[in-house]
Amino acid sequence: MLDHLKASNRAWAERMVAADGEFFKRLELQQVPEYLWIGCADSRVPANEIVGLAPGELFVHRNVANLAPPQDANYLSVLQFAVDVLKVKHIIVVGHYGCGGVSAAVDGKRRGLVDHWLHPIRELFHQHRDELDAIPDGRARLDRLCELNVIRQVSNVASDVLVQEAWARRQDLCVHGWVYSLANGLVTDLEVSIDRPK
Ligand code: CO
Repeated sequence: MLDHLKASNRAWAERMVAADGEFFKRLELQQVPEYLWIGCADSRVPANEIVGLAPGELFVHRNVANLAPPQDANYLSVLQFAVDVLKVKHIIVVGHYGCGGVSAAVDGKRRGLVDHWLHPIRELFHQHRDELDAIPDGRARLDRLCELNVIRQVSNVASDVLVQEAWARRQDLCVHGWVYSLANGLVTDLEVSIDRPK
């Protein structure tokens, strides 16, 4: 089953070895990524490809709507490993315009479990109601909510005790917020980077 994927995997591994005979040997011994990517699970936002990074260069956590919820054991485990063990220098929260998770959070339809997962976005929507209501175009309004969501997740990451402790011991670490455009493949830096406790 899935023979096309296995064949494509074999071809990929062969291409990697053809380009660099020691590639997998080196990776097997060590991973020293400088970046942690926290992004959406959306299939159109493939982390490594977007920033042109090879295996071993980007530590990745993805979930629906790129959330960093302070009680989520999955995200926290990734964060702790990235900060305490890998000592990544940058954490990048990457949202994307046209995010189905963000629109599902506020479209009023019931979907089940994911409604609970998306609850923080619904809260954010209500907190920024005035700003969002002033945007006449529905799509532009949702895109702004995607940006606000990234900004909130950057704040979640930066205020986490793990990150605060890293800064307290003078570890070099910066948290960034980006939004990716499905329309042109480009990321926009929301310029909310934080590199010290504040
Ligand atoms: Co999404």
